Amino acid sequence: MNKITIAIDGFSSTGKSTVAKRLAKHLGYTYVDSGAMYRAVTWYAMKHNFINRERFDVDSLVSHLDDIHISFVFNKDVGFAEVYLNDENIEKYIRSLEVSSFVSRVAEVSEVRSQLVKQQQKLGKVKGVVMDGRDIGTVVFPNAELKLFLTASPENRAKRRFSELVKKGDAVLYDDVLKNVEGRDYIDSHRKDSPLIKAEDAIEIDNSNMSKDEQFHVILDIVNRKLKENA
Ligand code: CDP
Repeated sequence: MNKITIAIDGFSSTGKSTVAKRLAKHLGYTYVDSGAMYRAVTWYAMKHNFINRERFDVDSLVSHLDDIHISFVFNKDVGFAEVYLNDENIEKYIRSLEVSSFVSRVAEVSEVRSQLVKQQQKLGKVKGVVMDGRDIGTVVFPNAELKLFLTASPENRAKRRFSELVKKGDAVLYDDVLKNVEGRDYIDSHRKDSPLIKAEDAIEIDNSNMSKDEQFHVILDIVNRKLKENA
């Protein structure tokens, strides 16, 4: 069967990566978490003090972009590819609320975007890829055979993200998580370069009232129909 490219975009914490990982595993495709790449650059900027609560030194970050090498290494114990920054596994650092509080500002920077988009297009050169993010169906793979756009109410999304962080042992407040989800949605949808918008040919799925399992099966049906069309 012909392999296709599946682009999954949507607002923060809509369960994109959960469904993308499961789909990739089911189909034997490669999963690429483009958000992890923006988080990796943000982590680098935080470590070098280019970004903190008081200031964001965009010029310094941009002048160091060539020193930032991001790679994905499959970890069979967890069943997905973990993100590495300059050969260090940074998977456990990049999902914190602190990184989330800076990432959308880093992702507004055009030089950061063009560098990462290039790498994402390279990773998706061979068909058989599921990639999730904000601009995958619009900018990274405008010709993807299947584009999905996931939405859910902000409260549902904040609840999901809050329980994920609590499960990991992070001491966070629900209100701070909700504020972060809403704040990132705003910046991601209003930035000049590649704002989060639904591609014209994307299928929109509101998963506010779906379990992870239901969402997976709804999406798998859509994928199977698309695969038949492309066979
Ligand atoms: O998983 P979650 O919804 O929290 O977000 P993510 O996919 O890890 O992405 C983190 C942030 O990276 C987003 O809020 C965007 O600011 C940025 N991002 C982007 O601009 N473009 C992408 N293709 C992916 C992420």
